[in-house]
Amino acid sequence: MSGLVLVVGGTKGTGALIAKRLAADGRQVRVMARDPAAARGRLGHEIEIVRGDLTNPETIPQAVSGADAIVFTAGVPSGRPAPAVLVKATDYDGARHTLAAAQAAGMRGRFVYLNSLGVTVPSLSATLLNLLKRDAFTWRRRLEADIRRSGIDYAIIRVGFLTDGPGGRRAIRVTQTPLPLTPWHTIPRADAAEIFATAVDHPKAARATFDIVSGNGPRRGGAAELLDTLVQDAGA
Ligand SMILES: NC(=O)c1ccc[n+]([C@@H]2O[C@H](COP(=O)([O-])OP(=O)(O)OC[C@H]3O[C@@H](n4cnc5c(N)ncnc54)[C@H](OP(=O)(O)O)[C@@H]3O)[C@@H](O)[C@H]2O)c1
Repeated sequence: MSGLVLVVGGTKGTGALIAKRLAADGRQVRVMARDPAAARGRLGHEIEIVRGDLTNPETIPQAVSGADAIVFTAGVPSGRPAPAVLVKATDYDGARHTLAAAQAAGMRGRFVYLNSLGVTVPSLSATLLNLLKRDAFTWRRRLEADIRRSGIDYAIIRVGFLTDGPGGRRAIRVTQTPLPLTPWHTIPRADAAEIFATAVDHPKAARATFDIVSGNGPRRGGAAELLDTLVQDAGA
C-alpha cells in the first residue's frame, strides 16, 4: 500500500472527498493548496496541507516531495468561461510539472489522474465545454498521452458530469469503452471519490484508462470489486 498520498485539487469538490476518504481509511494524506488557511478550514487537522500553485511551477516540487502516490483532480472550474492561457497553465502545464516533479523525486507509486468523459469521443457537450473552458479537452487529451509515456505507474479515470448527490446508492458503471460526455452521463462526487481512493493501490488499475458514470439500478459491490474487471492499456 502506498504511504503518503498527495491530492492536487484536494481543497474542494471531488478532490476534497478523495482526501477525506483516504484519511478515513487510515492513509497519510497531503493536499496542495493555493490558500492553506481556507483549505485547513475545510479539511480539518488530520490532513497535511502544503502551499502550492500549479501556475507557479517552482512551488510544485515541495508539495510532491516524499509523496508515494499522487491523485490529481485540479483544474480551472468547469461550466464558466476561462481563457486559453489559464486553462493551459493549470490543466496542462500544471499537471505536466507535477508529473515531472514526481519523476525527479523518483516516486514509485501511482499517478491517478481525473479527466473528463469524452476527451476522445466527439459530442455536443464536449464541443461546448471546450469552447467555454477554452481548449480544455484538447490539452487534457494530450496530457493523457504524456502520462502514458512518462514511465510512472498511472490510472486515468474519466468522469461524467459531477453532482453533489449522495454516494453509495446508484450502481457505478466502470467501462474501458470510451463514452461521450452527455447530460445523462453523470456521477456523484462521493461515488467518484470512492473509485479514486481505491484506484491508488488497486492492482488492476495499474496503467489502465477507464470511464466512470452512474449505472442503472442500486449499488452492488464495492469499488475494489468494480475495478477487478480492468485491463492495462494497449502498449502499457
Ligand atoms: N464539474 C463537472 O461536471 C466535471 C466533469 C468532468 C471533469 N471535471 C473536472 O473534475 C475536476 C474536479 O471537479 P470538482 O468540481 O469536483 O472540483 P473543483 O471544485 O472544480 O476543484 C478544483 C480544484 O482545483 C484546484 N485548483 C485550480 N487551480 C489551481 C491552481 N492554479 N493551483 C492549485 N490548485 C488549483 C482548486 O483549488 P482552489 O481551492 O485553490 O480553488 C480545487 O482544489 C476538475 O478538474 C474539473 O475540471 C468536472
